[in-house]
Amino acid sequence: VQAVKAVVVASNRGPLSFGLDDQGRPVATGSGGGLAGTLHPLLAGSGATWVAASMNEADRLASEQGLMTEEGLRIITLEPDERIYRQAYDVVSNAALWFCHHHLFDLSRRPRFDHRWAEAWGSYRELNEMFAEAIAQEAAPEAVVLVQDYHLALTGRMLADRRPDLRTVHFTHTPFGDPSALRVLPSRFARELLDGMAGFGATGFHTARWEAAFRSCFSDPELTGGVRSPGPPRTFVSPLGPDPAALATEAAAEAVERARAELATTVGDRSLMLRVDRVELSKNLIRGFLAFEELLQRHPEWRERVVFLALAYASREGLAEYLSYRSEMEHVVDRINEAWGTGSWTPIVLDVADNRDRSVAALRRYDVLLVNPVRDGMNLVAKEGPLINERDGVLVLSREAGAVDELASVSTVVNPFDLVETADAMHSALAMDAAVRAQRAAALRERVAARTAADWLDDQIAQAQPPS
Ligand code: G6P
Repeated sequence: VQAVKAVVVASNRGPLSFGLDDQGRPVATGSGGGLAGTLHPLLAGSGATWVAASMNEADRLASEQGLMTEEGLRIITLEPDERIYRQAYDVVSNAALWFCHHHLFDLSRRPRFDHRWAEAWGSYRELNEMFAEAIAQEAAPEAVVLVQDYHLALTGRMLADRRPDLRTVHFTHTPFGDPSALRVLPSRFARELLDGMAGFGATGFHTARWEAAFRSCFSDPELTGGVRSPGPPRTFVSPLGPDPAALATEAAAEAVERARAELATTVGDRSLMLRVDRVELSKNLIRGFLAFEELLQRHPEWRERVVFLALAYASREGLAEYLSYRSEMEHVVDRINEAWGTGSWTPIVLDVADNRDRSVAALRRYDVLLVNPVRDGMNLVAKEGPLINERDGVLVLSREAGAVDELASVSTVVNPFDLVETADAMHSALAMDAAVRAQRAAALRERVAARTAADWLDDQIAQAQPPS
């Protein structure tokens, strides 16, 4: 805690998020994104400064009414103009950079970078400037500045120009797009992005794969022509994990116990296959359900004997791609339930309500946890589950998740595009011998607990060196 006192953290989503109640009053909702949710407990009470954006009307009202404050944390909430913010967050950060780093573009049709998109990039730049200004004003001489994620990639160069004394570090929580993915962006903006990141003293990633992708972008002249720095900045790898003690406390809460009891009624004595995600294209929910259907087709012994519970809370519904993904997903689930369900058994139970207590209860109860993203920076569910699961559950993990670099030898690894392989992995996980399960679950727990969130924060602070 002492060590982080002189630290300034910057992220798009701040530690406190708000929604509106029936009467239009702001009420705290907890922090949606995994990144803010993980950083918050680490910095609580530390005296650190946290610069973040007000993301919607509820946040704005909360700021106005003085609710964006917390004892022991200096929270600075920026209030960008609504239009600037929508363009920076929805159009550039979520619909372009997120898609680029997760390789999600459906290239036969999208993206289409027209003049309106170029204007949105201007808003993204403006939002980054707003952050850089605030940091430059607030940071003490030679302070450590930890900037999080793709929303703020340009602030590195901006801070190097404004405050060369600062010790700036950037951390990317997503994968980083391969050069071929970055080449989809208009070259001038791809260059600005890389130049912005090259302005940081150091920049970190969850795995060596994302670090390598970032570095290789600097070998592509199309992406780096005009970049001021001749090569990539200093890079480092530091995987993030949950805080085991905090998670154990959360799992033992009264509300989680209640949710656990409710769940017992839904599942009965059947096996429980679980997934916990945002409704997010990169999470690969639809293929997960289709793989489950393959399992029911090819392994009839599991019919009526397993429930697939999908806790998938709605996310980024301002984007058309997310709305249509959600409706396709719901359609697939209905079809599978109609085709295979019986009077007493619903094969897939899909719940899109964001209920953390329920998710934690389900993580305690699962027999198989499916984490099959098409590409994912880390994936914290793959680590949270094994820490609190009480049934020696098996982790079926995508080879494209950052977490696989640490957990491959203690999980069942699948190609997320291969439905047959995923169904076979589900089958062998469900059928696994009790002694083998117990031994693997113990090894998995040990592996996950070996690195805490605090280790990750320490790594960033250690990278914050005086500018050369
Ligand atoms: C996840 C990702 C982070 C990202 C966050 C944003 O946690 O791992 O990389 O910053 O989502 O989510 P949001 O809801 O704030 O757009």
